[in-house]
Amino acid sequence: MKISFHNSTIENVEAGLRVLPVTPERSSPLAKRPTSKGRAKTITESALAIPVELQEANKTFNGQLAAKLKETRFRARAGKRSTVTAARFDARGLPIPVSFRLSGVSPDALSPSGIHLDEWRQLGGDAASAALGLGVEVIAVSLRQVNKRHHEAIAEAVLEGVDLSQYRFTKFKSAKSAEGPKIREVQFLVREMPRRRAISADAQTAGVRLTRDLVNTPPSDMNPSDILGAARQIAKDSRGRIKLKVFDRSALQKMKAGSLLAVARGSDEPAYLIHLVYTPKRKLGTRLTVALVGKGVTFDSGGLSIKTGHGMMEMKCDMAGAACCLGVLRALIEREKSNPIGHEIHVVIPTCENMINGRAVKPGDVARAMNGKTIEILNTDAEGRLILADALAYTEKINPDVVIDVATLTGAVVVALGGDYAGLFANHDPLADVISEAAEEAGECMWQLPLAAEYRSHIDSSIADLKNISQSSGPGAIIGAIFLQEFVPRDVKWAHIDIAGPAFWTKSNEYTPAGGTGYGVRTLLRSLEKLNALTLK
Ligand code: BES
Ligand code: MN
Ligand code: ZN
Repeated sequence: MKISFHNSTIENVEAGLRVLPVTPERSSPLAKRPTSKGRAKTITESALAIPVELQEANKTFNGQLAAKLKETRFRARAGKRSTVTAARFDARGLPIPVSFRLSGVSPDALSPSGIHLDEWRQLGGDAASAALGLGVEVIAVSLRQVNKRHHEAIAEAVLEGVDLSQYRFTKFKSAKSAEGPKIREVQFLVREMPRRRAISADAQTAGVRLTRDLVNTPPSDMNPSDILGAARQIAKDSRGRIKLKVFDRSALQKMKAGSLLAVARGSDEPAYLIHLVYTPKRKLGTRLTVALVGKGVTFDSGGLSIKTGHGMMEMKCDMAGAACCLGVLRALIEREKSNPIGHEIHVVIPTCENMINGRAVKPGDVARAMNGKTIEILNTDAEGRLILADALAYTEKINPDVVIDVATLTGAVVVALGGDYAGLFANHDPLADVISEAAEEAGECMWQLPLAAEYRSHIDSSIADLKNISQSSGPGAIIGAIFLQEFVPRDVKWAHIDIAGPAFWTKSNEYTPAGGTGYGVRTLLRSLEKLNALTLK
């Protein structure tokens, strides 16, 4: 996709679709109509407001735009969109249609201070869909009302929206028509040309796309060995920046990763603990060591505590945490040349299936995790915390400053927060603040929940150190988090993101089709950008 900046107004470009951000405040009445009493009356703003920028264009098109706009009864409100098409005439007098997309944004999206990045991502997603609907492949987006210091951040968000909205998972469709035309070019209209800085939208969206692909792939085509294959590919593509270590069953036995091995026992597919290390080429400020841990259950049947048919339907998504971490690494190598991140980043993925066979782990069994703690497994469907227990304990060898785990851990977090929000837990407030701020900018909904020590006794076992569920009905997402906390190495700043809601959608939004959403990649990348020794004090 080509990207360009032009010091030009909306009526003077060639693009087939011209996008104009409009707000209630900035719209001004097109005309004042004299009333019978001879007083000029403002034509109702909601139906007829015409943005200043469009007024010029309206003149160029002899008033066609205002007339069309009136018909649409367009309201300049955030999220409201409308296309108005006018005709230009070529030398032979034949009409050439020119379409304008009026895209409502909140006044804040244009304010000199705050910029509401996600509104721009949505605007970009909408523009791409509208353009392709019209058979148009070149879009112009006016940033002429926006303060120039926000141009790059906004352009990046618009481009993310344009790119991510066009994502389709077509690998298993036989009709090739599933692959339609794509947006070829996005032009940004500005009043002053920007100094070219790195725009890393492409790197980010490559990461999100990879995550979506991995999550969307059917579970028999995305088993633990396939996750390992994806990790290998990333290490290979990194040309030495990323190193890969793999622990198979015999290595896991030597390491005493009994909790991961207990879950893996019921499956014919071998389990792995995968460890990837990204080392930046150059020294850029303080280098922190950050470990990202992603749940990689490639299919969760529940095990002997089996799920219902309905409950199992989307359980290919139970490796979305692992896929998210791999997406982050993909983005890191894509932006290595233009806009590198300076931390040493470790990705640790415990991956297995949660299935049933004659050797499957049984409710009542006790497993011993790598840190020596024993766990009474009362419900085999609470398997994510079991494999993460070993993965978190393993991070002790890395001696990290920060550990962040990402997991489709509990149905309970979906009950608490719904399908849009991830639950955030952290043992360190500044770390939680960095991640929350990053999520906000990334347009990924996240809400912090307490790591409530009050509920720790819920997971006391009568025969082992811990049990893997609470036997009284209670705050399931919190119970999951405080269980994980038992395996986090001492003095490590740790956050846990429960993505059971937003990892996989049956709905869609302007830049997220149904299926794997790629949730978390953008938040983690921004978190890594923001993290430094000071933010962690
Ligand atoms: N993978 C599920 C959680 C999940 C639910 C992810 C819905 C995505 C959508 C997890 O392994 C699980 O089964 N959790 C149990 C825990 C319970 C047994 C304590 C749950 O939420 O029911
Ligand atoms: Mn489960
Ligand atoms: Zn699970």
